[in-house]
Amino acid sequence: MSKRKSNILFQLTGSIACYKACNVVSRLVQEGHDVKTVCSQNALKFIGKSTLEGLTRRAVYTDTFEDRSALEHINLTKWMDLAIVCPATANIINKFAAGIADDYISTIFLACGFNKPYLIAPAMNASMWAHPATKRSVKTLQGWGVKLLGPARGYQACGDTGEGRLLEPEAICKEIEKAL
Ligand SMILES: Cc1cc2nc3c(=O)[nH]c(=O)nc-3n(C[C@H](O)[C@H](O)[C@H](O)COP(=O)(O)O)c2cc1C
Repeated sequence: MSKRKSNILFQLTGSIACYKACNVVSRLVQEGHDVKTVCSQNALKFIGKSTLEGLTRRAVYTDTFEDRSALEHINLTKWMDLAIVCPATANIINKFAAGIADDYISTIFLACGFNKPYLIAPAMNASMWAHPATKRSVKTLQGWGVKLLGPARGYQACGDTGEGRLLEPEAICKEIEKAL
């Protein structure tokens, strides 16, 4: 990994893979990057704010209206060198493609001008990944310049095997460094 310090906006949505994403956050911080995290309300059902606060030594953003200063969602798009959603749920992918901005992460997405790298690392059940709505949304996002990381094929939390697993933390970090 390069030693150049970058500002990384790391966003987590409500997937079982949130625990794996914490490992990615930890690696990025250890590489010297400044990492700010944003969690969807549902991501907080999988991991606690304290975990991310401990790893990044920064407060976690969760609410468009309550956090720190007004317009922080715009400030974050100016601050960041790169944004990533990891793990990205089927819900957030479909929401992004529809242009919905009803929570912190989707609001930030609409405020991003695509002049900086925007990465999405999906994690979901194989049927959710194969759904025509998700397929169409992924195509739309790629057309806008969003870079998809994976997903991988393999064992899934529901007990099935298929496509939809979050890439391994090391592979995600490599892709982030490449994009930077
Ligand atoms: C135990 C559990 C695991 C889940 N894992 C995933 C997942 O890996 N991927 C996904 O797209 N949705 C998953 N879901 C469903 C999402 O949490 C749900 O669609 C939620 O509305 C997503 O909200 P968010 O995108 O705002 O975080 C899971 C739900 C539960 C209860």
